[in-house]
Amino acid sequence: MTPSATEDPDVPARPLLDVDAVRADTPACADVIHFNNAGAALPPKPVLDATVEFLNYEATVGGYESVLDREDDLNRVYRAGARMFNCGEAELALTSNASEAWWRAFSSVPMGPGDRILTGRAEYVSNAFGLMQARRRGIDVVVISDDDSGQIDLAELEDTIDERVKLVSLTHIPTSGGLVNPAAEVGAIAKQAGAYFLLDACQSAGQMPLDVEALGCDFMSLTGRKFLRGPRGTGLLYVKSSILDDLEPPIFIDGYSADWTGVDDYELQPSAKRFELFETSFAGKAGLGVALEYALDLGLAAIEQRVVGLGAQLRTQLASVGGVTLHDRGVNKCGIVTFSIDGVGAIAFRDQARGAGINVSQTVPSAWQVAQGAPDGSIVRSSVHYYNNENEIDRFVDLVSTVG
Ligand SMILES: Cc1ncc(COP(=O)(O)O)c(C=O)c1O
Repeated sequence: MTPSATEDPDVPARPLLDVDAVRADTPACADVIHFNNAGAALPPKPVLDATVEFLNYEATVGGYESVLDREDDLNRVYRAGARMFNCGEAELALTSNASEAWWRAFSSVPMGPGDRILTGRAEYVSNAFGLMQARRRGIDVVVISDDDSGQIDLAELEDTIDERVKLVSLTHIPTSGGLVNPAAEVGAIAKQAGAYFLLDACQSAGQMPLDVEALGCDFMSLTGRKFLRGPRGTGLLYVKSSILDDLEPPIFIDGYSADWTGVDDYELQPSAKRFELFETSFAGKAGLGVALEYALDLGLAAIEQRVVGLGAQLRTQLASVGGVTLHDRGVNKCGIVTFSIDGVGAIAFRDQARGAGINVSQTVPSAWQVAQGAPDGSIVRSSVHYYNNENEIDRFVDLVSTVG
């Protein structure tokens, strides 16, 4: 039998993504090398158009009226989110950002003095604050070590988890590094022990496929502006519908999250909508729906392949530059690439790169207290997306070579 083109070792694998097409959809690619996708990615044109169009429509017919007229467009975010994360539409709540989504989930987990939370060393700063508050309320918060590769130590997690543990809280990809934590393995361990699993997928959403069933999570928090390429001021929270009745009421609710049913009584929405508030950026909501559809159309597996490939290429090229130290850890790495240059501060480098038309960021010491000890401000965070290309990597590495 003749092998098909994809099976023939002499035929190069067809790129899964049409890079020229996605760059053409991203007008800013002509002007800037955007390696700050872990901060906020460049939105594609359809997202920008949907957001601006909704804002214009609001201004034309009225804010409340536009919601009535455009319900179907506004519901795209739940439909597309359900497809992307393999959950029900009623299991998704729109939030303004990932921190809000995480806090709403966290505050609804029934816990009291003597109960335990297990977490990892890559936990994001907002989440760490929540864990500190829990500790001050008498809840025991145990930080599981990293293993030798830098990811959460699964053996230690398994040894430590017991019936006292009510929650396992994990950041999938830390804000300040290329590590991808083994979320599905953590989810399986939490499930086995009967603990809730809260996954911070802020940096992984839009970078790779996320299936809440495969990940075994009860909650998942994420933001719109990063690898999903959605508008700023948008986020999502997934809450597994089968646990809703066992949870505490969300940290704050309004007349949308609940019905005022009696003088001294209220009833929460019977879905994840209880984690949503009435007022939001409806233009952002419309834009986020389009961003999710856009990523689904490209395919999350294809996106992951491209992002991981570009990240690996950037690491390889940076490693050959004298004076550069790479900092990414873990067995699996993503599109976030962190490094330092001998004798060069990260902020000074960021500003110099900006002057050369390249956007990067720096790690924030206060976000690393738990993660890896406070760094000295020398670590640059560059983060690639599928619309970046090899030529941009060459130009970036050239810049690093001249600075180092
Ligand atoms: C891993 C991680 N979690 C949570 C957040 C918080 O996201 P937001 O700023 O949307 O609240 C960030 C932001 O950088 C992050 O990197």
